[in-house]
Amino acid sequence: MLRSKIAGIGMYVPEHVVTNNDLLKYMETSDEWIQERTGIKERRYAHRTEETTTTMGVEAAKIAIQRANTTADEIDFIVFATLSPDYYFPGCGVLLQRALHMKEIGALDVRNQCSGFVYALSVADQFIKTGMYKNILVVGAEKHSFGLDLTTRGRNVSVIFGDGAGAVVLQPTENIEQGILSTHLHSDGNSAEILAMYNPGTHANHWGDKNYASFDDAEIANMFMSKKMIDNAELFPFMDGPSVFKKAIVKFPEVIMEALNKNGYQTTDITTLIPHQANLRIAQFVQQKLGLRDDQVYNNIQHYGNTTAASVPIALCEAWEKGKIKKGDLVCLAAFGSGFTWASALLKW
Ligand code: ACO
Repeated sequence: MLRSKIAGIGMYVPEHVVTNNDLLKYMETSDEWIQERTGIKERRYAHRTEETTTTMGVEAAKIAIQRANTTADEIDFIVFATLSPDYYFPGCGVLLQRALHMKEIGALDVRNQCSGFVYALSVADQFIKTGMYKNILVVGAEKHSFGLDLTTRGRNVSVIFGDGAGAVVLQPTENIEQGILSTHLHSDGNSAEILAMYNPGTHANHWGDKNYASFDDAEIANMFMSKKMIDNAELFPFMDGPSVFKKAIVKFPEVIMEALNKNGYQTTDITTLIPHQANLRIAQFVQQKLGLRDDQVYNNIQHYGNTTAASVPIALCEAWEKGKIKKGDLVCLAAFGSGFTWASALLKW
């Protein structure tokens, strides 16, 4: 049976560094509050008009493709994970296909928020293992800065997020000592509204009450996108932070243990755990619960904030570039986020 291996990896973050103190221009907050609650010191914001989720994904993809010793022309499938696409539709996959002048290959968009990259990797893994494709580009990218409420009203959410992209090229290998050993995907939609951006959407309850009988025709006609939504700040993400925290610290360890148990490993066997960079406090809690040493966990949220679908490939790429991940290492990727969805992937580098 074939296995998938990461043949090349790349990352891109915008040049513009936004420190916690820089956020004081927009809102009442403090470096102390942000660092204490999240561990974040700074994040990157994309150029407002020249950079998009796709352009950042393209930059990361170019590096991954080159490091995989292949070309954009040889890629036979794209899986693109993001919650901040350039357009409501079409998705970023086709925009990346166009930007890289690729052949008329399949392009799939994954909408699993913070778990998006691990879900995307799992999808790509299945196509490689069955022999259907030989060079799959998997991208996670986000331009959060464009869609955050950068006022005091939105500060509990907006200080956490940053922009960036990461990408890998998956290829088949017959070497059983290398590649993705297993992936594990989960969801629980009961808490879908706890961490969500409701609008624009087709749910039709963004008016704050459900007494539609009182709406006039114009209001009903404009339910998808209305001035009222803008006035009431209903076009920004919502997060019940404490509820997210409580669920994350249970599901992260669970899905990591699931991957280890499936393959007969123990926590001591992990060379590097790359947790989704949700919040440094969550990662530290998970580390403690699993009894992992500092050198077994790689975190970089301090410098990039939470980049959602991009956070796992950015952290994996940076850890690899710093020489912290070497051939033969046991690497565990784990993510948890909106949905709720959570996922893990265990791989031999
Ligand atoms: N700066 C200063 N004060 C703030 C800020 C801010 N940026 N944001 C909120 N506050 C204030 C609030 O107004 C509130 O003040 P009050 O007590 O006078 O009313 C106080 O701080 C506490 O507010 P909470 O929203 O309850 O903040 P909490 O202590 O829960 O911390 C946080 C928020 C950091 C998000 C926390 O809930 C948390 O760590 N949650 C985990 C969720 C998470 O990390 N999500 C990441 C994204 S999702 C994902 O990737 C899975």
